[in-house]
Amino acid sequence: MSTPTPLPTRMRAWTYRRYGPPDVLRLEELPVPTPGPKDILVRVRATTVNRTDCGFRSAEYVVTRLFSGLFRPKRPVLGCEFAGEVVVVGAQVQRFKVGDQVFGFDDQRFGAYAEYMVTAADGGVALLPTGWSCTDAAALTEGIHYAWCDLKAARIGPGSRVLVYGATGAIGSGAVQLAVSLGAVVTAVCTTPYVERIKSLGAHQVIDRSTTDFRTVPGPFDLVFDAVGKSRFKHCKPLLARDGCYISTELGPRGENVFLALIGGLRKGPRVRFPLPTISQADVLHFRSMAEAGTLRPLIDRVVGFDELAEATRFVETGQKFGNVVVKLP
Ligand SMILES: NC(=O)c1ccc[n+]([C@@H]2O[C@H](COP(=O)([O-])OP(=O)(O)OC[C@H]3O[C@@H](n4cnc5c(N)ncnc54)[C@H](OP(=O)(O)O)[C@@H]3O)[C@@H](O)[C@H]2O)c1
Repeated sequence: MSTPTPLPTRMRAWTYRRYGPPDVLRLEELPVPTPGPKDILVRVRATTVNRTDCGFRSAEYVVTRLFSGLFRPKRPVLGCEFAGEVVVVGAQVQRFKVGDQVFGFDDQRFGAYAEYMVTAADGGVALLPTGWSCTDAAALTEGIHYAWCDLKAARIGPGSRVLVYGATGAIGSGAVQLAVSLGAVVTAVCTTPYVERIKSLGAHQVIDRSTTDFRTVPGPFDLVFDAVGKSRFKHCKPLLARDGCYISTELGPRGENVFLALIGGLRKGPRVRFPLPTISQADVLHFRSMAEAGTLRPLIDRVVGFDELAEATRFVETGQKFGNVVVKLP
């Protein structure tokens, strides 16, 4: 391992020692984690408060406990999205060096709600896009990679007709930009104050859901993507082409979206898909090159200080954030 300057041994971190509401978050002092031979230690400059962190903390869906600990969290520091500076590289790491500015996503180990975090050098991490700040790049992976997985599962390509419901969320705003980049014809749905902002992401048509029920929009669509999980397949089916598909970011009432996806192949007509999200370094490099080309930029609702992280979590859980909430570290 190579380290140019001595590192502190302790760091500040937001922790959760039990599942529950945002009140379970506590600011603590912890030892700085030690990277393994294939890891990097990142000094976190920015992270986000996002729905993935909220979902693991609340354990609203009990299934998340299979990964994070059945009775209490195994890893007390959340924070799956990050941008910062590499301060230690493991002995076997070739890809990064001390001083590199990086960004990425880690929902295996989390850890970005702290001044230092460890992540795998061959995981969802890449160099910061040229000319980008950590504050902007911190929000380039969470919502965007979910959107990417879903568009790939729906086999979206040039000429595909895509409707994105909930286009102002982290996932929805990512989906609009990614679908446009794939050559799709995109109809986005949001409320009045955001119509112009969503148009500026490249959507071909924007439906104001304050005045128009999106289910009355003329189809057919190859994909209806409900990026905020508020609709149901049975209500969206009339909008879909015969071989079109419906994807939602939520399980749906009594988990119907998972069930419908499982039996989808047995029935003719539009179907539900429920892809399990994954992220690779190739995905992050793709987002980076789009960011550098100016075709992908996360929407930022607000930037808050590290001490305000718990308060920001309460806001995110209202379901009303516009894009992303970024947390800037000192
Ligand atoms: N459990 C997990 O691990 C996990 C992880 C990631 C995401 N998710 C789910 O994915 C969804 C999206 O997350 P996100 O971070 O992209 O966005 P988000 O923060 O939940 O979405 C915020 C946007 O949703 C819109 N919205 C709120 N209520 C709406 C409604 N009834 N109909 C249409 N739009 C509505 C709001 O815009 P307007 O009202 O102005 O249109 C707001 O800008 C959430 O449901 C989240 O729970 C879950």
